[in-house]
Amino acid sequence: MYIGPIKWEKVESNGFSKAKPHELHVPVLAHETISWLVRRQGGRYLDCTIGPGGLASRILDRTSPDGMVVGIDRDEEAIAVARERLKPFAGRAWLIQGNFSELKQHLQSAGISEVDGIVFDLGVSSAQLGRPERGFSFLTDGLLDMRMEQGAGQTAAALVNKLSEAELADVIYRYGEERYSRRIARSVVRARERRPLGTTFDLVSVIRDAVPASYRHGRIHYATRTFQALRIAVNRELDVLEHALRDAADVLTPGGRLCVISFHSLEDRIVKQTLRALSGGPDPCLSRLTKKPQTPSERERRENPRARSAKLRVAERLPGARHS
Ligand SMILES: C[S@@+](CC[C@H](N)C(=O)[O-])C[C@H]1O[C@@H](n2cnc3c(N)ncnc32)[C@H](O)[C@@H]1O
Repeated sequence: MYIGPIKWEKVESNGFSKAKPHELHVPVLAHETISWLVRRQGGRYLDCTIGPGGLASRILDRTSPDGMVVGIDRDEEAIAVARERLKPFAGRAWLIQGNFSELKQHLQSAGISEVDGIVFDLGVSSAQLGRPERGFSFLTDGLLDMRMEQGAGQTAAALVNKLSEAELADVIYRYGEERYSRRIARSVVRARERRPLGTTFDLVSVIRDAVPASYRHGRIHYATRTFQALRIAVNRELDVLEHALRDAADVLTPGGRLCVISFHSLEDRIVKQTLRALSGGPDPCLSRLTKKPQTPSERERRENPRARSAKLRVAERLPGARHS
């Protein structure tokens, strides 16, 4: 579904100023991913998380003149940005606003049953983080929203104002692996008794008050894990991943490759276990090409902070494997 033109405002307060939305986002492990994924000119590819189109534009470049990319994203703003960015490849990109949990249906809508390569570049983009009103970033003040799919489901504000203290602590611990989850949950409940939390900075200040002083000056920002946890809960990010990876394996042509870039251990665990399951047992359909995940170079880590925790896993569809 195409969503009409989006007016991007410049963000002046967070170091991303004056960049166009797609320039805010530098894809991580891009060179490595494209080298695994694309091995010939032409072909059909599925980008399950097209975002601002960084990887997709590289795939289209490498598969010139007739390679094609179907791109999916839950975020209508991302689709609009990708559409602009991929204009030079007119006729070779098909963009769909939707969830990769329905990737088979999305491919069908593009009239395609199999593809030569699939990429998942999970998480949020810098373009999303750079828009304070989306509520993903603890560095800028904005509504505590965090929904990737605008207007669908509950916002992070709804969760923090509604969940019980125990439920909140559980979310923050389970999805953020935050060791101060209970203290933070208690602090949120106390704060919301005075007034509901509405903005990212409301939450940041509650977390700040809840954690020990030493934690406030730690290597990672003290709000990182709580924000990650709420984002995962709001978007139910982990619920659909295994199913989507299984569907992806099923729509690959023999020899076609599946590349998955993850950004935290919870995601990577699901990717690792699913690829292992699909490449073992009596009826494997994949062969794992990376037994250990590939990680960014020192240089990439230095130049792109998003790269710090990234892991790339790659598998290939076995010839003769049965479709589920
Ligand atoms: C890291 S960004 C992708 C960046 C892109 N690969 C690039 O190079 O420009 C991740 C994107 O995945 C999208 N996303 C996350 N979960 C999704 C899901 N379940 N279905 C579809 N899109 C999803 C997010 O909205 C975000 O735009």
